[in-house]
Amino acid sequence: MSSQALRDARRYEEVYEKMILPEERPAFHLSSRVGWMNDPNGFSRYKGEYHLFYQYHPYDSHWGPMHWGHAVSKDLLHWKYLPAALAPDMPYDRDGCFSGGALEMKDGTQMLMYTGVSKEMTVGDRNLEVQTQCVAFGDGEDYTKYEGNPVLVFEDLPEECSRYDFRDPRIWQEEDGTYKAAAVSYSLRKQKEVLHDRNSDNSDGLLATTMIREEEEGGQILLFSSKDSYHWKFERKLAVNGYRLGRMWECPDLFELDGKQVILASAMDMLPDGLEYHNGNGTFCLIGEYDPETGRFRSEADQSVDYGIDFYAEQTVLAPDGRRIMIAWMQNWDTCNLHTKSIPWFGQMTLPRELSVKDGRLYQWPIRELLSLRRDKVSFENVCIKDEEIELDGIRGRLVDMELELKVEEDDEEGHYPFTKFAIHFARDYRHHTGISYRPAESTLKVDRKFSGSRRAIIHQRRAYAEPKDGVLKLRIILDRFSAEVFVNDGEKVMTITLFTDVRADGISFFVDGEAEFSVTKYRLQEG
Ligand code: FRU
Repeated sequence: MSSQALRDARRYEEVYEKMILPEERPAFHLSSRVGWMNDPNGFSRYKGEYHLFYQYHPYDSHWGPMHWGHAVSKDLLHWKYLPAALAPDMPYDRDGCFSGGALEMKDGTQMLMYTGVSKEMTVGDRNLEVQTQCVAFGDGEDYTKYEGNPVLVFEDLPEECSRYDFRDPRIWQEEDGTYKAAAVSYSLRKQKEVLHDRNSDNSDGLLATTMIREEEEGGQILLFSSKDSYHWKFERKLAVNGYRLGRMWECPDLFELDGKQVILASAMDMLPDGLEYHNGNGTFCLIGEYDPETGRFRSEADQSVDYGIDFYAEQTVLAPDGRRIMIAWMQNWDTCNLHTKSIPWFGQMTLPRELSVKDGRLYQWPIRELLSLRRDKVSFENVCIKDEEIELDGIRGRLVDMELELKVEEDDEEGHYPFTKFAIHFARDYRHHTGISYRPAESTLKVDRKFSGSRRAIIHQRRAYAEPKDGVLKLRIILDRFSAEVFVNDGEKVMTITLFTDVRADGISFFVDGEAEFSVTKYRLQEG
C-alpha cells in the first residue's frame, strides 16, 4: 500500500507534466518530470531495461523534501517516466529519501537502498539531520519499504564517524550472493600533538606544550555487507580523504576498469589545484589498487572528472556488453538556485558516457547509441580563415553532434603559432552566444557562457589544459538545447555546461585571431 505522500506526488506529476511542452526540455538528456531534480540514483539494469531514479522535489523547481523520481530506457537516450518511486513518509525518512542504489535480486525483485533523513535539531541556520540507510523492494514500479528500516544506523559505524553525514549507498551483489554497499561518511577524528618549546626554561630544558588539534579525516568510503539484504554490518574503510580532496565526500562509485581499480566520488568544498578541482563541489576520480593487506584503496592518480561547470553526483552502470557507463547531475550546487520559482522543471542529467582508462587517465565518450540519432551530415575539409568570424552553410542548430579538428602547429623557429585564439560560438543570435575557445600558446581550452543570457554575476567560464596530438586538437561538441558537452581529444577531458539561451538562438560560428585551418563535420540529432 502506498502512502498518501507518494499518492500525492504521483497525482501531482501526472497532472503538472502536461504543462511542459517537449520542446521546452532537452531532447535526449533526462530532465525532471516536473519540479526539481538532482543526483541520479539507482542507475541499474532491471528486467532488460535501464532504470534511473533521481533526487526529486516534484512540487517546486528548487530543492526540498526529497522523493525518488523514476524513468526507464532501452537505449539511455529515449526515456519513459514511471511514477515516483519513494516519498518521505516514514519517521526515519520524514525529511527526505536521499541518494542510493538499486539492483536486481536473484528472485526477480528490485531492491533499492537509500538514505533516510530525519531532522534531530536546528542549530542556528543549520539543520542537523540524522542519516541512516534503508531498503525497499519492488517490481520495477511500486516499492515497499522494509518494516525493519533503517538497516544501517550511526551505531553501526566506527567510533569517530559523524551521525549527520552518512549517506549515498552504492549496492551490488557478489558472485557468492553476498550483498555489498559502499556509503560515504565523515570522520571527526581528533589527534593529540605534542610540541616542544626550546625557548622556555623548565628544568629539563624542554617545555612540553600539549596542543589538541582537531584533525578531521573528512570524507571516507565505508564498506558494508549483508547475507540476506536486511541485516547489514560494517566491514572496513575502503578509502579515506585525509582532507586532500575537499571535506565531505558524496555519491561514491567503485569498479574495475581496464585492469585498474577506479573510485569516483563527489567532494564538497574542494580547493582548486592548478586547473583541477575548480568546482567547489566537484567530482573526482581515483585510479589505483586495493592494498591486499588492509583492503584500503591506494591511489596512483587523481583527476577532475569534468572540467566544465555543471557536473556532480555521478553514478555508473555496467551494460550487458561490458561497457561501464556513467551519468551525472548536470548542475552545480553553487549556481543551481538562481532560477525563478515559476519555471516548471529544473535539473537534467548528463549524456551517458562510456568510460575507459588509458595512460593512467579516465576517458569518457558519448554512448555509441547516440550515433543512431545522427541526421543530415554536413562536412567541410581544411577551412582556412584569417582574422574573421564565419558561418558555414548548414552548420547551425541546438540539437547537434559536431566533430572538429583544428590544426595546431608552430609556424616558426621561435615557437609561435599562426593564431592566438580560435573559438566556436554556438547558441548564437545578435545578442547571445556561448563559446569554446583555444589558446595554443597556453594550451588552454575555455568554455564561456557569459553571453548566454544570464543576468547574474556567477561563474560563467572554466579552463582546462588541452594539448594537440600530432598537431591536431580534436573536439566533439554535443548540444541538446540547454547544454553543451565538449569532449576533447577522443575523450581525454570533458567540459560540460548548461545554458538557458532561447532555443531560437541557433547560430554557430568560427572565429580566429590570426590564421587557422580546421575541418568540421556536423549532424543534426533526431528527436523523438
Ligand atoms: C549530492 C547530495 C547527496 C544527497 C543528495 C540530497 O548532491 O547532497 O549526498 O544524498 O544530494 O538530495
